[in-house]
Order: sequence, then C-alpha cells, then structure tokens
Amino acid sequence: MPDTVYRPTRKFCDLTLKKFGVTTEYYDPLVGEGIIELMRPETSTLFLESPGSQTFEIQDVPLMTRLARERGIKTIIDNTWATPVFFQAHRHGCDLSVEAGTKYLSGHSDLLMGLVSANAESWPALRATYDSMAMLPGARTASLPCAGCARCIFACRRRKTGR
Ligand SMILES: Cc1ncc(COP(=O)(O)O)c(C=O)c1O
Repeated sequence: MPDTVYRPTRKFCDLTLKKFGVTTEYYDPLVGEGIIELMRPETSTLFLESPGSQTFEIQDVPLMTRLARERGIKTIIDNTWATPVFFQAHRHGCDLSVEAGTKYLSGHSDLLMGLVSANAESWPALRATYDSMAMLPGARTASLPCAGCARCIFACRRRKTGR
C-alpha cells in the first residue's frame, strides 16, 4: 500500500484484512524500482493510488505493474483522482482498477456509486466475486446513477479533448 493511500483504505487493511490474516506493508509512493525490495514470495497484491490522496504523488505505474507482473503479483489501483478518462489504468498494466463514482465521475455530489474494472486476465475472478455478491447493482440495474455518471464523463472528455 502506498503510504499516501486514502485513509479508509488504510483502515480497511489495518482492521478488516488483518482479521483475515492479511499483512499490509506501506511503501513510499515514489519508491519506483525500490518496490522490488518489498516483494516477497508470499506477496499477493501491489496496491497503487496515483495521484496519492492529499499529497498527489504520481507513481510510475507502468514500471511498478511490470515489476509486479514479472513476480506473479496482482496490481490494484485506486484511480479515483485521475479518473478513467484521464488515466486508462489497464493500458498501463493494472489488473484491477477501483474508482469512487462519487467524485469526478458524478461531478455534482448527487450520486452514490463506485466502480471496479479488470483486465481480461483478471475479469473471470472479478466476475465470480461480483456474482457471489448478487445483491450488488450493476450497470443494468443501476441505470439512473450510470446515466448521471455518463453526463460527467462527457464533461471530463470535453475538458480533455475540447470537443
Ligand atoms: C482516493 C479515494 N478513494 C476512494 C474514496 C471513497 O469514496 P466513496 O466514499 O465515495 O466511496 C475517496 C473519497 O474521498 C477517495 O478520495
């Protein structure tokens, strides 16, 4: 976990994941290649958040995801600050990307929504987890929040492309 990670994510690791026997190690978000030193045989996941919460460090995502992949370690990024419009996490090697839809994607503080996406390799596992929590709304059942989100994604894209 980058040391700059969104505080509730840190709490989730330190309280909830700990109960399940998962150990979390925090690293300097600008560690770059130095992340290798922290990768152990039992390391399963490298979490990234770029820009980092509050201090906005930009991580070298392609480098870090490549180093993780070479060692069979999955990567998850909290892409909330950048948004999928401005940073296409899977193109930069991330296996899973999570996003708070309540921020830029809603844009008007009027949606309760979150998103997770996966690359092709991790998609079956994500889909299976989603199916095991069948009460969660998806794009079909949550059409109103999705429509609200679409409005802001168009606004973000217009800011990016001028069109
Ligand atoms: C980086 C980041 N990730 C996740 C969240 C969680 O957002 P929510 O509580 O809307 O799910 C926030 C909220 O501030 C955030 O800043």
